[in-house]
Amino acid sequence: MSFRRRPIIAFDGPAGAGKSTVARQVAVELGYRYLDTGAMYRALALAALHSGVDLRDEQEVLTLLKTLVIDVTGDPAALTRVFVGGEEVTDLLRTPEVNASVSLVAEFLSVRDEMVQRQREIVREGGVVVDGRDVGTVIVPEAEVKFFLTASLTARAQRRQRDLARIGYHVDLTGLAEDISRRDNLDSTRVYAPLRQAADAVLIDTSNQDVEDVVAEVIAHCREHVR
Ligand code: DC
Repeated sequence: MSFRRRPIIAFDGPAGAGKSTVARQVAVELGYRYLDTGAMYRALALAALHSGVDLRDEQEVLTLLKTLVIDVTGDPAALTRVFVGGEEVTDLLRTPEVNASVSLVAEFLSVRDEMVQRQREIVREGGVVVDGRDVGTVIVPEAEVKFFLTASLTARAQRRQRDLARIGYHVDLTGLAEDISRRDNLDSTRVYAPLRQAADAVLIDTSNQDVEDVVAEVIAHCREHVR
């Protein structure tokens, strides 16, 4: 008897396009698990900052990663809780310090290979919504449904400003837009697994859309294409 795994739904796109908010709600509505792959890179960047590892030294960063058990628990209704070595780091993952460092560690091929291996293991059984930069292109090119979410730089900076305010950081919009633009540039020009839309991904511009409308569009598309 052959085993047919449950479907995988992929979300890729730049920072602040609304991927994690939309992906989580879609997972809740479909009763799927949710994997936030960015949280894994953030956990690594945080651990590197804490342990004084040189963020520009690939070997040091990889050696650190090999020692880390990164547990991303998949309750889609809540912000992904992340544990590194049993200690919860969820609230430390979205600080300006981690924002500024994460692209550096995400750039290394050996680090990406290790992360992709772990991510494939997590999604293997299917029934999961996955969000990141290389989900539909590298992690699971065979995903049944793929979305590429994007939004204007201003809309994305405003969202990040609201997210940061929620955790107590009040940051100037211009600086944030510059930071996001810099990260976009790093994410899309890096040599390995740069951010790009998979040929078979559905493009959604979320600049002027409510989350509910985007979720409804995504769910309608999934119901049509997943069986
Ligand atoms: O989605 P996010 O902002 O939490 O992602 C954090 C960083 O990790 C971002 O700079 C890009 C990187 N990332 C990546 O390279 N590949 C992924 N699959 C997910 C995130």
